[in-house]
Amino acid sequence: MYKGYQDTGILSRGGYVDLRPPKTASWVRDIPSYKPGKAKEEIAKKYGIENPIKLASNENPLGPSPAALRAIDDYKSIVNLYPDTTSKELRTRAASFFKCKEEQIIAGNGSDEIIDLVCRAYIEPGDNVIIPECTFSYYSIASKTCGASVTYAPMKDGLGIDIDSIVSGVNAQTKIVFLANPNNPTGLYLDFDSLSRLLELLPDQVLVLLDEAYGLFSRAGDFKSGLEFISKDKRILVITTLSKSHGLAGLRIGFGIGDYSIIDSLNRIKPPFNVNILAQRAGIAALGDTLFLEKTLDTVWNGLDFLYSGLKSLGLEFLPSQTNFVLVKIGKNANSVYNELLRQGIITRYMESYGLREYIRISVGLPEENRALINTMRKILA
Ligand SMILES: Cc1ncc(COP(=O)(O)O)c(C=O)c1O
Repeated sequence: MYKGYQDTGILSRGGYVDLRPPKTASWVRDIPSYKPGKAKEEIAKKYGIENPIKLASNENPLGPSPAALRAIDDYKSIVNLYPDTTSKELRTRAASFFKCKEEQIIAGNGSDEIIDLVCRAYIEPGDNVIIPECTFSYYSIASKTCGASVTYAPMKDGLGIDIDSIVSGVNAQTKIVFLANPNNPTGLYLDFDSLSRLLELLPDQVLVLLDEAYGLFSRAGDFKSGLEFISKDKRILVITTLSKSHGLAGLRIGFGIGDYSIIDSLNRIKPPFNVNILAQRAGIAALGDTLFLEKTLDTVWNGLDFLYSGLKSLGLEFLPSQTNFVLVKIGKNANSVYNELLRQGIITRYMESYGLREYIRISVGLPEENRALINTMRKILA
């Protein structure tokens, strides 16, 4: 008969024994933790709002790919089994989607895990990494976790990636350059010529982690995926994700795509069953769901255009976006506008933790959600 766990004393005595906790690595102690967007449930409870609108985490407003949902249903009865350690079928499907070879791909528990694996495989304590000052915050967390020193490359005027500031930060200890293209949270991108120039200027010892989480959303004619380079340049790892374009953020499916030598190093250290069995099946189905991807791109592009004209009519500045979100300059009152939006049931992201105290970031939602956002902002700013 199941006996349950014994009370260790914490419950009956009502307190912890006062022991010193083990010491974390010195470089871990001052890493700030990742700050996610607020959850709908939290705002619903706090402000008594029935159905808040979440435009905070660049999720897919259409929900998950229907083909992925069917796959989850079809395979749910086998979750007692361990998944395939190599995610073979998923990688085969991904290879045909991304037009590369299966051996050039590793699948991860979200692209966050690929970032982690790269840091663990390449960084030795004391190594240096270069990260643009205003970009996805997990690069810095993952690098510092492995004992790297981080050089933050200043942005150009107007928050663009500055190739020269990245290159001038490189020294003999530099192991990795992180680059999100298009970038989060700015939504800006590096055109193909600039990307090529950056790669030419970087020395051989540097691995370039080129993060294309938002690559599919780009409408710019001179944006091109870094996958162009992977068969001729052994330094580049492109990472990508099914979280946004395919609506599977909660399942956690990401890919690293690059030269076999990088993939081999990452495979040696990855947790054995890193992509769960339903994620593998749903990922395979989602990659074949072209209809859903097209609908997603239409929704995002129409939504962006609607937001642009709404924001213009409010007299607000924003950055032209190649992603599924837009960075908006509100001014000195950005935090209070953000909080007022929360009170009215609309969750956006205040950008203070990115050093942008006058900005909020708004993910593109469904047409009615975008309309509600602009109407609510109009009232708040009146
Ligand atoms: C630039 C960038 N890279 C990576 C990620 C992580 O994506 P995933 O859900 O695949 O871990 C995000 C998530 O927001 C992102 O913005």
